[in-house]
Amino acid sequence: MEAEKGPDDDEGPLMRVPALEDLLGISKIFVKFEGRNPTGTHKDRIARLHVETAKTLGFSGITVGTCGNYGVALAYYARLFGLKAYIFVPAGYTLGRSEEMLRYGARIIPVHGPYEKAVLESRKFAVEKGLYDANPGSHPEIDYLGYAEIAKEIALRINPYAVFVPVGNGTTLSGIHYGFKALGLKPRMVGVTTSFGNQVLREFYGVDGNDFAETEFNEPLVSIVSFDRDAALKAVNESGGYIFGFADDTALYYASLLKGVGINALPASALTLAGLVKFVRKFGVNGKNFVLVVTGGVKNGRGPTLDGRALSVNGWKDRARVGEVLQKV
Ligand SMILES: Cc1ncc(COP(=O)(O)O)c(C=O)c1O
Repeated sequence: MEAEKGPDDDEGPLMRVPALEDLLGISKIFVKFEGRNPTGTHKDRIARLHVETAKTLGFSGITVGTCGNYGVALAYYARLFGLKAYIFVPAGYTLGRSEEMLRYGARIIPVHGPYEKAVLESRKFAVEKGLYDANPGSHPEIDYLGYAEIAKEIALRINPYAVFVPVGNGTTLSGIHYGFKALGLKPRMVGVTTSFGNQVLREFYGVDGNDFAETEFNEPLVSIVSFDRDAALKAVNESGGYIFGFADDTALYYASLLKGVGINALPASALTLAGLVKFVRKFGVNGKNFVLVVTGGVKNGRGPTLDGRALSVNGWKDRARVGEVLQKV
């Protein structure tokens, strides 16, 4: 695997992955790996900006409803900037990152009901207690600015033909699209998600119903309501992109392919590779710059990894270590 990195090594790596290209007969595949962020996922991008904004506006605390990853990121930055974090988590969720949130000094409030209920309760709590509301849809401009950084870092290296992004609320895809637009670039935005379990997908195909089962693998993508649905659909349609839906076994299969080339991806975000395979077959294009936005497979506080071992932010700054890891791939 050849590493493509920013000048001071400070961005999440954009890696071209020839091993996958050979395996799948698709070139050119780039992975924008978000797993090296401080708490291991792309959520760090927006968590930091929300906490900084809350601090600047004079709030003493911040709140969010989350399935886990966003809560850990918010708790981490809240601690860094001296704010109290109140994290509403659906009681049945399985990610198992509560220990980390508590370690960062956050208060966890379990909610009996789905993710959307956790968001609503957190919103209500923000109003009642005078806290900064970091929930999706509350400060969309901050979310878009945070995720636009991903677009900027990709554009530093290549001009992408299509960018594949997992879709839950649709915020990440919308923000990345916003970032490319600001740079005058127009890659096709391709969303990947769980079959029928996501509102952006249901609206894209014009289908009703909620015929799906939530599992530990599709949890980050399942939505009754996708809070950034309209922006995501606009980004997909305006850019000439597409939305693909997949089952869990596909996510696990592609996560194992990525693992085979040294990338430990959250199964939900390994669907970007499934989306690429389908996109190439459906539209008959190949040999373009294809970028997969992949987040780290962090579970129960373990990860992020690129080679099966914990790889810290500092690890990435150590060029020798990076070389050692990438050579093995
Ligand atoms: C890399 C990546 N981007 C985006 C998402 C979904 O984010 P959003 O809720 O902003 O659509 C996920 C969820 O797994 C993800 O792994």
